[in-house]
Amino acid sequence: MNTIGVLTSGGDAPGLNACIRSIVRACTYHGKRCVGIHNGFEGMIAGEFEDLSNESVSDIIRRGGTLLKSTRSTRFTTPEGRSHAREQLRGHAIDALILLGGDGSFSGARAFLAEHPFPLVAIPKTIDNDLAGTDASIGYDTACNTAMEAMDKIRDTAESHNKIFFVEVMGRDAGFIAFRSGLSVGAEAIYIPETHNNLDHLYSLIESNQAGRQHSILVVVAEGDEGGGAAQLAKDITTRYPHYDARVSILGHIQRGGSPSCADRVLASKLGVAAVQALADGFSNVMVGDINGEVRISPLSHGVKRRLNVTPELSQLLRILSA
Ligand code: F6P
Repeated sequence: MNTIGVLTSGGDAPGLNACIRSIVRACTYHGKRCVGIHNGFEGMIAGEFEDLSNESVSDIIRRGGTLLKSTRSTRFTTPEGRSHAREQLRGHAIDALILLGGDGSFSGARAFLAEHPFPLVAIPKTIDNDLAGTDASIGYDTACNTAMEAMDKIRDTAESHNKIFFVEVMGRDAGFIAFRSGLSVGAEAIYIPETHNNLDHLYSLIESNQAGRQHSILVVVAEGDEGGGAAQLAKDITTRYPHYDARVSILGHIQRGGSPSCADRVLASKLGVAAVQALADGFSNVMVGDINGEVRISPLSHGVKRRLNVTPELSQLLRILSA
């Protein structure tokens, strides 16, 4: 194995650049050539390759986004697209791949490897954190911090005016960001896809506010929640309490950008080096993750979607803190 290709696929996440830097520097350490593949699987099909050096990744550890750009490729979902990609790798003498992706990209990689056996190591990145095989995926910690900082600001306004705010955070199918950032801002209620919404607690807080208690209420809603998102929940509340003023804030893509947190930079750096080491050790069709602070290598088939496990302890924690 002489040349390792690296690509970022799917939605961006803070820490991708830190991971690319780590992969390039680990390749240099192992005496390998590192080739960046632009625009994810689309760029692999189109042959958008560029040699990367230690210098070309200098000072990117602190930058959000991805130097290599990223796409959600539809062509790669077809056998023809995947064959083209394989041809391009052959044409550019790339003999191993490191993929930075989420569950969609991982399943694309599995389809590719089933047709074209090829040394490949995957690294989990998604702000949603909804991937098995690792405790945290690259980007999750920063997204939680961004949501926390935004909600602290919203709390100032909510508290000044005794208002209720419904804040929607990202998390298409999972409530990791909502739960963690919600706990960090002392949210009065958190609604996520993994649990059935119970609005009783919210009703009683609103009613005690109407009866004289004067406090803000911050409700965190994951975008994938069954209640239809923050706007719908706010509408439901104002229908029930027509004189109660509710506000909605949808944080959106600010959670995907920005300078990565310390935790994300370190995780990205560790996993990048581990991925190159795994290829050098002869692993393929695997992912690297971080479990209990240690790098773990698992079969790529383990890198599937997961949801937040809302244990009785977690529910109890929220109940105690949101009283
Ligand atoms: O998977 C990451 C994520 O940010 C989800 O939280 C969100 O639902 C989705 O991507 C948004 O994707 P896009 O940027 O393509 O609209």
